[in-house]
Order: sequence, then structure tokens, then C-alpha cells
Amino acid sequence: MSDLLDLSGKVALITGAGQGVGRQIALFMAAHGAQGVIINDIVAERAQAVAAEVDAAGSKGLALPADITDWKKVQQMAEDAKSQLGGVDILVNNAGNAGPATAEALASRKSFFETSPEDWEMWIRVNYYSPMFTCRALIPHMIEKQYGRVINIISDAGRVGEPNNLLVYSGAKAGTAGFTRGLAKELGRHNVTANCVALGATNTPATAKSAEAVKSNPNIAKKALSRYVIKRFGEPSDPAAMVLFLASGASSFITGQTIPVNGGYSMTL
Ligand SMILES: NC(=O)c1ccc[n+]([C@@H]2O[C@H](COP(=O)([O-])OP(=O)(O)OC[C@H]3O[C@@H](n4cnc5c(N)ncnc54)[C@H](O)[C@@H]3O)[C@@H](O)[C@H]2O)c1
Repeated sequence: MSDLLDLSGKVALITGAGQGVGRQIALFMAAHGAQGVIINDIVAERAQAVAAEVDAAGSKGLALPADITDWKKVQQMAEDAKSQLGGVDILVNNAGNAGPATAEALASRKSFFETSPEDWEMWIRVNYYSPMFTCRALIPHMIEKQYGRVINIISDAGRVGEPNNLLVYSGAKAGTAGFTRGLAKELGRHNVTANCVALGATNTPATAKSAEAVKSNPNIAKKALSRYVIKRFGEPSDPAAMVLFLASGASSFITGQTIPVNGGYSMTL
């Protein structure tokens, strides 16, 4: 039987792939035969390091560092992707930010009413605007080819809502899910699918501080894991496996969906 997850001949671009979940997605795609994997990150050294790992895995890794909240830089990235690898067939909007994960921020859990429009701007730009920017710049190539896959990484916070300092982040991620459903309707006739993967707490550099607290304090662990049916945090490979499936030919009849990878934290009908 042929490999259902085979990505031969396909070029993927993953935003924020210099570490964490995005890096793992890139490595899975390389391992499944992607012709090219473009690593975007705002931190150039991170993007270059992961592009080298992709190369070592036998795919063509290309680092295109850029701040994807900047429309002009996203347009330039799309041009570079086209000129260097012929365009993008699989777009994964992974870059996101729930706010500073410093010990003080985690301890204080600011109320929404202590946050300001300046804080909101950052959350909205990276979690909501940037997927629109990359979709606007990169999908015309997919329409031309009559083939494409768009996968947007959101959070369970966007499905169930989280209060305090995660409130605006929840709204921005929910906005991306709504945008993705509309996009799926616009793109279906072009053989392009668009879906979201909604993550629960996952062990990455972004969550290292809270993971440490959970490991060292049984009371914090009990509270943090109380809503998880599977009593652990996710690993980057958990959502990355779902992204690989949605990027592959195996998912060609799935579009406009939000698929939770969350250890049962919340459940859908
Ligand atoms: N880790 C979790 O518990 C968790 C839970 C729910 C949702 N998510 C979502 O999963 C995605 C990946 O999270 P992660 O934990 O791997 O994050 P991470 O912070 O470990 O990695 C994100 C990467 O994105 C890059 N990035 C940030 N802003 C950028 C920008 N403007 N332009 C380009 N690159 C940028 C960072 O430099 C970093 O390398 C995010 O969208 C996040 O909101 C994560």
C-alpha cells in the first residue's frame, strides 16, 4: 500500500518553525518526503538551525526569517518562496503568542481589566492578522495549481475561552477559526482545504516555565491536569502528527474543521 502521508513533490511553509510545535511539524514533513520545507521564524538563527535539520533529513530546507505580522515582509517571503522553491503547496500558520511566560506573568495572571489596548495589539497581530497575511500572499499559487492545504494552529482557548490575560488571545484564535471556515468555503472548488488544529497545553519552550512548576509541585500538577482526561501535557509530536495528516492526501475530504489535540481537555459533539 502506498504511504498515505507521503508528501513527495510538495513544498511546505511553516511559520514560527524555529522551535516547539512548528519545528516538529517541519521535521515530520521532511521525514515524509516533502520536496522542500520552508522554515519561517522571527529569530533568524532558529530558522536556519531547523532548515539544516530538514536538510539532514533528506528534504530541502529553506530558512526565510521574517516577522509575519508585517504585511510587506510576508509579501517578500512569498516572492522568495516562489523564486527559490517554485511556490508553496502546504501552508501551516503556526506562529503564535499567548503573552510573556515569565515567572512573574505566570504568578500574577493579570485580569483583562489590567491589560491595555497596546497588549491586545500584539496578541491580535500575531494570532489573527498574520494567518490572513500569509493566506493572502501564498494561496493564489495554490489556486493556480488547483491544489493546496492550509492548516492554522489555534488553541483550545479559542474554542472554550480562557479568562484574564488569555482573554484576548482566546478571541484572536477563535477569529482565526472563523476565518478558516470561511476560507474553506472559498477554496473548496479549487481543491484547496483549510482546517485548524486546536492545541491543549503542550511542552514547548513557550510553556517551559509552567511545565517546570507542574513537575516540581504536586499540588500545581493536580490542578493543572485536572481537566485533562489523559494525565499529561502534550508533546510537540502530538499536534504535529495531526498537521501531517491534514497536509497529506489522506485528508482530501476534510475541510473547514477545527480538530482538537488536547488530551480530552474539552470535547466536541
Ligand atoms: N504550547 C502550548 O501549550 C500551546 C497551547 C495552545 C496553542 N499553542 C499554539 O501553538 C503554536 C506554537 O506554539 P509553541 O508553544 O510551539 O510556541 P513557541 O513560542 O515555543 O514557538 C513559536 C515560534 O514562533 C516564533 N514567532 C513568534 N512571533 C513570530 C512572528 N511575528 N513572526 C515569525 N515568527 C514568530 C518564535 O520566535 C518561536 O520560535 C502557537 O500558535 C501557539 O499559540 C501552543
